[in-house]
Amino acid sequence: MFKHDIIIVGGGLAGLRAALSLGGADAAVISRVHPLRSHSVAAQGGINVALGGNDRWQDHSFDTIKGSDYLADQDAVEVLCRDAPERVIEMEQWGTLFSRTDDGRIAQRPFGGAGFPRTAYAQDRTGHALLHTMYEQARRKGITFYEEWLVTRLAVNNGRCCGVVGYSIAKGQIEAFHAKVVIFATGGYGRIYRRSTNSIINTGSGCSVAYRCGAALEDMEFVQFHPTTLYGTNILITEGARGEGGILKNKNGERFMERYSPRLLDLAPRDIVARAIETEINEGRGFEGGYVNLELMHLGLEKIKERLPGIRQIAMDFANIDPAREPIPVQPGQHYSMGGIASNKNCETSIPGFLACGECSCISIHGANRLGGNSLLETIVFGKLAGENALKYAGTSEFEAPEIFEKTVHEESRRISALIDKNEGEMLYMIRDELKATMDENVGIFRNEKKLTESLDKIRELRLRYRNINVRNKGTVFNQELVNAIELEGMLDIAETICIGALARKESRGSHYRLDHRERDDVNWLKHTLVTYTPEGPELDYKPVNISIYEPKGREY
Ligand code: FUM
Repeated sequence: MFKHDIIIVGGGLAGLRAALSLGGADAAVISRVHPLRSHSVAAQGGINVALGGNDRWQDHSFDTIKGSDYLADQDAVEVLCRDAPERVIEMEQWGTLFSRTDDGRIAQRPFGGAGFPRTAYAQDRTGHALLHTMYEQARRKGITFYEEWLVTRLAVNNGRCCGVVGYSIAKGQIEAFHAKVVIFATGGYGRIYRRSTNSIINTGSGCSVAYRCGAALEDMEFVQFHPTTLYGTNILITEGARGEGGILKNKNGERFMERYSPRLLDLAPRDIVARAIETEINEGRGFEGGYVNLELMHLGLEKIKERLPGIRQIAMDFANIDPAREPIPVQPGQHYSMGGIASNKNCETSIPGFLACGECSCISIHGANRLGGNSLLETIVFGKLAGENALKYAGTSEFEAPEIFEKTVHEESRRISALIDKNEGEMLYMIRDELKATMDENVGIFRNEKKLTESLDKIRELRLRYRNINVRNKGTVFNQELVNAIELEGMLDIAETICIGALARKESRGSHYRLDHRERDDVNWLKHTLVTYTPEGPELDYKPVNISIYEPKGREY
């Protein structure tokens, strides 16, 4: 058994930032992959921060709350936006090479739903630049890392978290990690969809482990679809491309955003642009196969090379298109999970000793729709807070209940052996593909009761079939099939919580758009959804939204 005062699960930006708040405490980061392979590395367009002048953190707050369709908790948004300048400057001082203005200041570009060019960037590889800085700092501080581990269980004793159980992907063994406090920073659940910008590790495993162990999940029905992913591959084509002046056009050559958002056009919030593109495609104004064009040609080769070199490379490598000469074919794709482990603005969950931050958490700062550029910010603001609060908690706690690990490790070993021991049954990939297909088709940008019910039925059928899967690879070293099998059970749980929340929520708000309930309904639905696991099935509950600054208003853009 490993033993550390504080265990952080997740080696992306949020987890590493939490680790950097821990001073000299005995702490370790457990990561599913090498930390530099975490999904944070894929973030492109930038990080929001009001750096003064004509932009104030209060303006950033307002844009975030309005963008969230008034479902964000406003006290938490205040923490996010107020702390942003200090955190971003800290990253710069630690070594992040942000792009610069001619007079040497951090460059900022316009992003969707923002009233000011507020998104600081490092070309179009901002996540890469930030993650490398953060990892260097973590190494400098001598943080302990356990790489290539999949955490499969929280150890909870008398309602209090006292560690985790993990599966070593490299060695094929189950081990316990005893701790006073555990922080989850495990990322989102985008890969339950087929069309997704997410890394394949983003299966929502942290959320599903927390859910099975008693933590509530919040607002799971709010799934963000990025308007512009490369047609066919769904690789992210950054909003920064539109921030730099890129224009969306349909097959008739119309700048169709003029009809959907006359004021903000291509830089309306993501939910609005994604719905607009989907509508153009559904109504026959998209190109054959289902896409629209993103035009960058008018920006010129030099600007594209300076500001969007990654996008140019992606378009050339994966579509054989040079965006300086031809438009990029784009379609919406799943991009971000607004929902997650219910956590307050101190990153505390419903289980004492268990904290969450980053995309796996729902604090809730994004409400029903996240603004582009707020996700990188969330990782460094709430990662820091999670670390600080864990440190306080660890200072007043003891290591508890070592005896529960024997039982927990035994149960996990049995569960995993049962997957390997069977010699016949269905291939897990069939189940996973059908899950993704139903999520894409029925729980996407446009939803209705019929589609959601169909999807829920399908998920329940898949869960029955899951009991009979056959993992053909019996190896113990880097058995990816086994890892996929373990994760698939959690993916089914997560999909079910999304469908249940979406079916119950009879309104349209942010990313959750019901064709059979097209209006936002503040009287009945200005509240957060909570889902908890019970052996009989998910249990739904609700809690109020913190409305401490702005009364909900209309959302014209
Ligand atoms: O479009 C983008 O670059 C994505 C940014 C984000 O999701 O925050």
